[in-house]
Amino acid sequence: MILVTGGAGFIGANFVLDWLAEAGEPVVNLDKLTYAGNMENLAALADDGRHIFVRGDIGDRVLLDGLLAQHQPRAIVHFAAESHVDRSIHGPGEFIRTNIEGTFTLLEAVRAHWGGLAEAERHDFRFLHVSTDEVYGSLGPRDAPFAETNAYQPNSPYSASKAASDHLVRAYHHTYGLPTLTTNCSNNYGAYQFPEKLIPLVIANALAGKPLPIYGDGMNVRDWLYVGDHCAAIRAVLTRGRTGETYNIGGWNEMPNLVIVKTICALLDELRPDAAGPRERLIAFVKDRPGHDRRYAIDARKIERELGWRPTETFETGIRKTVRWYLEHQDWVAHVQSGAYRDWVEKNYGARQ
Ligand code: NAD
Ligand code: DAU
Repeated sequence: MILVTGGAGFIGANFVLDWLAEAGEPVVNLDKLTYAGNMENLAALADDGRHIFVRGDIGDRVLLDGLLAQHQPRAIVHFAAESHVDRSIHGPGEFIRTNIEGTFTLLEAVRAHWGGLAEAERHDFRFLHVSTDEVYGSLGPRDAPFAETNAYQPNSPYSASKAASDHLVRAYHHTYGLPTLTTNCSNNYGAYQFPEKLIPLVIANALAGKPLPIYGDGMNVRDWLYVGDHCAAIRAVLTRGRTGETYNIGGWNEMPNLVIVKTICALLDELRPDAAGPRERLIAFVKDRPGHDRRYAIDARKIERELGWRPTETFETGIRKTVRWYLEHQDWVAHVQSGAYRDWVEKNYGARQ
């Protein structure tokens, strides 16, 4: 089996669902269930014996040692992190604790476990660290996209904490020989994304007739990748990636934020017309994010050349699927917004703490 961390969050939950459908191999899912972790994302697995959910912190060494000894996973896929840039600006402490210290604790536990395996198992073991393109900093309008060889220049507390965790993973391979893989991916979108991030926030606000906040001039550029394509890329890296290597993952799809927001407005107008008029009327330019990176772009040629992975969704197909998913799952959004998604956690875990 494999051990996934952060598998109740946006990408982690998509990955667990995708993994069980595509690979069918059992998963131990370790997640602290912070505000971003949502068991409703995993509701389809409630009766699936291949999914073992454990609520806990990657910073808890005793818990990690017990899980590794009990389940003997052949691989770790490490998603758990604090992931929102704006939250890192308001309160960086949790980002240091989870993204740096948590990853360090996880690496130490895995190193001890891996060191005790038989030779063949040690050879086949994998530690896949899921990271971000934000570690490379910000690009000018004519700069080449980020390649794996670019220097790290993180600009936010979030990206600095992810950069630090990437360096630790690199060092554990170089110094101890731990068979690591690191992926640096661009902006994901799709089902189950917490509505604090641009795309689900804009969908939710547009449906509610609320303002659509655009930071600065709306011309910051991101590369957008459908989450299902990210999951497929991680499977490819886990199966065929060369240990000690990093792989950039991207959608070949750079777009300014304003275009993203206008595209969502147009799709909603088509699928759920608003009697009050086109949703673009709700666009509101607001004060910029401090230190806001201007442009990200990913050169994803290495993963295509070495592992044969390319995204299958265009932005047009992926955003249409995504908008449809949010329209069909407004109860999911309502539970997140009201906090009701936490009720299950309180019911199940409240008395145990
Ligand atoms: P998310 O915030 O939606 O989910 C994070 C999950 O980690 C949650 O379920 C949360 O409960 C869990 N978690 C947080 N702290 C934990 C801890 N100390 N111990 C155990 N679990 C903990 O994040 P996401 O958007 O799904 O991102 C997942 C990973 O992918 C992160 O490492 C992020 O840096 C990376 N990434 C995200 C994107 C993106 O666009 N969202 C792009 C590239 C890389
Ligand atoms: O690039 C990968 C990264 O993408 C991941 O590592 C992060 O975990 C993920 O959160 C995401 O970071 P961003 O900061 O790019 O995503 P976010 O959705 O917060 O913002 C996308 C762009 O939209 C960014 O330029 C800021 C802008 N924005 C965001 C919000 C929430 C707005 O203009 N208004 C908003 O209200």
